[in-house]
Amino acid sequence: MKINSLEFENFRNLDKNKIFPSESTNVIYGENAQGKTNLLECMWLFCGGHSFRGANEREFIKFGEKFSKIRLEFESTDRTQNAEIRYKGRNKEVFINGVKKKSGAELIEKFSCVVFSPEHLSLVKAGPGLRRKFLDGALCQQRLRYAMYFAKYNKVLNQRNALLKDINRNTSLADTLSVWDEHLSFLGAYLVQQRVKYVEKLQNLAIGFHSGISNNKEKLDIEYVSTISDYDVENTADIQEKFISRLQEKQRDDLYLGYTTVGPHRDDINILINGMKAKSFGSQGQQRSAVLSLKLAEAEALTSIREEKPVLLFDDVLSELDNKRQEYLLNKITDYQVFITCCENIDSRNLNGKLFEVKSGRVQEKDVPSFG
Ligand SMILES: Nc1ncnc2c1ncn2[C@@H]1O[C@H](COP(=O)(O)OP(=O)(O)OP(=O)(O)O)[C@@H](O)[C@H]1O
Ligand SMILES: [Mg+2]
Repeated sequence: MKINSLEFENFRNLDKNKIFPSESTNVIYGENAQGKTNLLECMWLFCGGHSFRGANEREFIKFGEKFSKIRLEFESTDRTQNAEIRYKGRNKEVFINGVKKKSGAELIEKFSCVVFSPEHLSLVKAGPGLRRKFLDGALCQQRLRYAMYFAKYNKVLNQRNALLKDINRNTSLADTLSVWDEHLSFLGAYLVQQRVKYVEKLQNLAIGFHSGISNNKEKLDIEYVSTISDYDVENTADIQEKFISRLQEKQRDDLYLGYTTVGPHRDDINILINGMKAKSFGSQGQQRSAVLSLKLAEAEALTSIREEKPVLLFDDVLSELDNKRQEYLLNKITDYQVFITCCENIDSRNLNGKLFEVKSGRVQEKDVPSFG
């Protein structure tokens, strides 16, 4: 998967422009608050999800303007394709190869990228929410079905939680709870199954990266920790059944607390280094290495599923990694199209790719300096 060109108009602080990136590495540099992350976000939106900053879509439109338009031309499955997204007020219109689509979700199966930002560096030591976000973000990109079930699950979960609170005020509503349990467990069973399988796949891929980064000194393990137990992962009906029993077991607690205490929204992953929990026992460096291994594994997993390499977006991570890890990141990702943002004008004399400067929203291609 390669981006041939990216065009943007009224997108955040960026000046209207069209850029033609290199098919290998693209370094985007500039001072703080100039628009580097905005540029990556613009590419990321073509993956069909939402902003990786969790922004509201209306925020994309440049202050004082009424609409925003972004357009991507890319190579995928050996042909040139294009996608365009127009934001106007609360509305969004998506076109793929000139055809208007019902929703942005259809982009998921067309274009893919993996983003790595400083937020990810605390993946190991942060709370479980960030780890779930890591899994869900990856899975939503891999499968349209996962993205749809995930969105529905969250909706149903909110409805069930609202009902739990209502039952406290009006006990006659208690009969309707089982309907929501049925919905929630049906959707949740699929999420759990896909997550468990994905964690297995990640584990196999990450192990290799991690032993590379640690010079064969460390073994990385990841395991899925579920609030539902004893299910047959191949059988979603079985997961659903076990999920319902857990909901019933926990019903009194849930009613008391006013929220749902079991289900994939409460699950986690354990990250172990040489058999010990990295969160409690890993050094800062070990934790960062584990994250790097996981992100590289994510890109490889996506490659094997799509049979095509995703575009990699590294936002500001280089300066947070030490030299050895920077080098690993830059050398282990051959054959990918990469976009890297950084603050200082890094030594780009060996750059096999293009250099872009972002200054007050103006994106400008610069000559790659040659030796001598
Ligand atoms: N809708 C918008 N209209 C105009 N400007 C916006 C809009 N949304 C964000 N901005 C501005 O864009 C600027 C640049 O943001 P961005 O996050 O891309 O900076 P950056 O170059 O990545 O900086 P840093 O190095 O600090 O990460 C911010 O100062 C922000 O105020
Ligand atoms: Mg930034």
